[in-house]
Amino acid sequence: MRAVDLIQKKRDGYELTTQEIRWLINGYVAGDVPDYQMSAFAMATYFKGMTMRETRDLTMAMVESGDQLDLSAIAGIKVDKHSTGGVGDKVTLILAPLVASFGIPVAKMSGRGLGHTGGTLDKLESIKGYQIEVTQADFIRQVQDKGLAVIGQSENMVKADKLLYALRDVTATVDIMPLIASSVMSKKIAAGADAILLDVTVGNGAFMKNLDDAQALSETMVKLGREVGRQTVAAVTDMSQPLGQAIGNRLEVLEAVAIMQGQGRTDITNFICQLAQLMLKLGGRDVDLVEIKNHLTNGSALQKFEDLVAAQGGEVSDIYRPVKTEYIYEVRADKAGYISALPALYFGHFAMELGAGRSVKTDQLDYDAGIMFEKKVGDTVFSGDLLAKIYSNRKIPQKKITEFVKNVTISDEKTATQEILTIID
Ligand code: URA
Repeated sequence: MRAVDLIQKKRDGYELTTQEIRWLINGYVAGDVPDYQMSAFAMATYFKGMTMRETRDLTMAMVESGDQLDLSAIAGIKVDKHSTGGVGDKVTLILAPLVASFGIPVAKMSGRGLGHTGGTLDKLESIKGYQIEVTQADFIRQVQDKGLAVIGQSENMVKADKLLYALRDVTATVDIMPLIASSVMSKKIAAGADAILLDVTVGNGAFMKNLDDAQALSETMVKLGREVGRQTVAAVTDMSQPLGQAIGNRLEVLEAVAIMQGQGRTDITNFICQLAQLMLKLGGRDVDLVEIKNHLTNGSALQKFEDLVAAQGGEVSDIYRPVKTEYIYEVRADKAGYISALPALYFGHFAMELGAGRSVKTDQLDYDAGIMFEKKVGDTVFSGDLLAKIYSNRKIPQKKITEFVKNVTISDEKTATQEILTIID
């Protein structure tokens, strides 16, 4: 076989065979198919798409490109969760301990943030001492002993995705359904969980900009999971505004802790309880929302989070440490009304420029930098009300603050919000 023939076949709209897809992925991981040919293939796929069969073959070829985790030593149904990316997305920090507090084992591998989206690993690493690199044996032992572990994906898992994702990131081929579906699902399948909850974000701050695309992606991933024997459910969730109040690693840890103390905003608290209900159901437990919420107010979830931090070498007291930055800017409303838009993409980029995120992989993060919103879409504001606080170790010119205020739309009519738009199961 020759890579050029497979690129041409895809470019001309033909379906590749299982053997051809496997040959291409194996060759790419082995270094026999160079980046420039794989980029051309990704671009051909971007324009011509893939059938469901091709997408499944691509996913499985990627799974087989590295180690696969065997979680069978852990008793019970192991449930994993994955978000397709967002701004202010601290869901795993709360959801993992919340679900574990009901006795469902959570063995989770998370990723880092890139661009305007944040990553759970960075948030956890903002806690002093927290280790994300754990051997597979220790990972399994921790889930057996403590009921949960959240670690970084090992270097040897899904090697094809590591290479391909980095390539897609710089060749404008990230936002295409079969490539996202195979990237997400290959990681989840290799990580060994029995059941998977997918949080498929949609809107201005997400890869999927409209509901139809998010739904189609969800359906593909749910089908892929089921075809390989993993019970999979997808929640299509809103990412038109940042999730919750905080953007920035330490600020998000603090918000997560506040939610686990029962002091979070009602919208994000309810959202997380709904996701927890789906995840618990996948784990074989039917729990009503009131009981789930109780685990946030009675300290059960927080206790699990403390156990997690301690088990992975983190200083538990550090999860309560307030942020400390050289500058704190208060942003105030210039008129009265209702907040009707807070574009997640803009604020994600704003936080990234403060040092909360990376524009390239080698960027150093400023864990304390970020934004804390006091008002969210649907809230009432009066002129002069505090909209947000910006925590920064870099001086911000006034024109950037003025631009920030301009990006907060205030209208006369109240806008309805909905965190979970639809569920695909
Ligand atoms: N998240 C992933 O893991 N892969 C993608 O391709 C997009 C989002």
